Amino acid sequence: MIGRLNHVAIAVPDLEAGIAQYRDVLGAKVSEPQDEPDHGVTVVFVELPNTKIELLYPLGENSPIKGFLEKNASGGIHHVCYEVDDILAARDKLLASGARVLGDGEPKIGAHGKPVLFLHPKDFNGTLVELEQV
Ligand code: CO
Repeated sequence: MIGRLNHVAIAVPDLEAGIAQYRDVLGAKVSEPQDEPDHGVTVVFVELPNTKIELLYPLGENSPIKGFLEKNASGGIHHVCYEVDDILAARDKLLASGARVLGDGEPKIGAHGKPVLFLHPKDFNGTLVELEQV
């Protein structure tokens, strides 16, 4: 059901430092920061030949990244995103298997303008999983 690894998202406590590290030290192509008010994050895309890394930084008081950074002060892997062809079919299959979908269970438009869903980390070995329909 799942396809390519679309991205790995890393929460960073200092966005400028994260950008400089990926651009200048690791030599990757790094986008301009993009605010995503619906998701409470500022995102930077790091383009790699086979996938992307997203650097996430809190945006606003209710950012979901804020609590994560309080627990992980130096930052950390926040989620992995797998591609699916049909997000509603994937959701229904997961629900039927007992997995929990976060929020109201309806896909939201993600940072790439495509429908996304998040799956409960406790159901996936402690890893927050995002599904993106491509
Ligand atoms: Co993501």
